Amino acid sequence: MATPHAESRREAFIEELLSSNFTTFFAATHPKYSTGNKAFRFTPTPVSPAVPYSWKYQDARAKLFALGELLTVEEAERRNINFVNPALKTFMPAATLPTLRGGIQLLLAGERAYTHRHSANAFRFILEAPEAGASTVVDGTRIPMHPGDLVMTPNWTWHDHHNESDSHAIWYDGLDVLMAYWVGGVFSEELKDVAGESYQTARQPRRPSDNNPLLYYPYARARDTLQKLLEAGVRDPFEGVRTEYVNPVTSASTFPTMSTALQLVPGKSRLEPKHRTENIIFITVEGSVTFQLPDNQQFHTGRFDVTAIPSWVPYSIVNAEQAPAVLFSQSDRPVFEKLGFYREADA
Ligand SMILES: [Fe+2]
Repeated sequence: MATPHAESRREAFIEELLSSNFTTFFAATHPKYSTGNKAFRFTPTPVSPAVPYSWKYQDARAKLFALGELLTVEEAERRNINFVNPALKTFMPAATLPTLRGGIQLLLAGERAYTHRHSANAFRFILEAPEAGASTVVDGTRIPMHPGDLVMTPNWTWHDHHNESDSHAIWYDGLDVLMAYWVGGVFSEELKDVAGESYQTARQPRRPSDNNPLLYYPYARARDTLQKLLEAGVRDPFEGVRTEYVNPVTSASTFPTMSTALQLVPGKSRLEPKHRTENIIFITVEGSVTFQLPDNQQFHTGRFDVTAIPSWVPYSIVNAEQAPAVLFSQSDRPVFEKLGFYREADA
């Protein structure tokens, strides 16, 4: 035990150390010096800086339409409402989870959003769209946008969005941009700055070879796959009936950094909880489910509500209705797997 004199000398030393941009393990992990957002511990299991959270689609949608009256798409580049994790907002820009950003984007009748590209991978999961006339162009390929469709814009692909119909289109944008941001990997470019044109007119050169060549996963096909798996009895107590969208060339996740999946929770059933090292965002697409979390926390979700769950937080998904529920999800699990950090454990 240090004497009071030694302790005050130690205290003064640590303060001087920290103020001159050094630290020592003792201080970096000590509750006195390492608090709040500065906390770092060698914890036995992961403790995320993010918290679980759920956003109501109708709330976000109302804000998006309000923004639609206040901000033109030209001013906004992309007119959207992001889902912000309350525990991350003081030290991360628009973060839904530590690595992932989610938001909803609006194109009103006749609007278009000009061509840009970025190193962050992105996808759109279409929520509301007209019968015809809404599309995204990716490296010169025009892709239709219908409710439930998944449209990919991998790393450094040129993309722009169009709504040539007489009603609005809304989609969910999912990105790994926070991952890119923290490792210093953000690059972006506007076509008008490099080619003088705001929109691409011709097919662009192919993307880096590790990109997913498949840009479009229509909803009908993914939903039909779930139905066939359900009928064949392919069902897991933790995952329900689940199909992952994959890169057809490698059979790996849709992006090196993100996986995307569609999952069915049969009526009157419950998926068992598990700890997993992944940050995951769910969109409730069909039906309604309740996420049950530790400490009796619950999120009741309906159509297009968005729920974010940080690494290692166990959750079970309960479908109390008779009808099946369908969930879309975006996860950074491929990052954990590639780095050797992926683990699961019973909850
Ligand atoms: Fe973009």
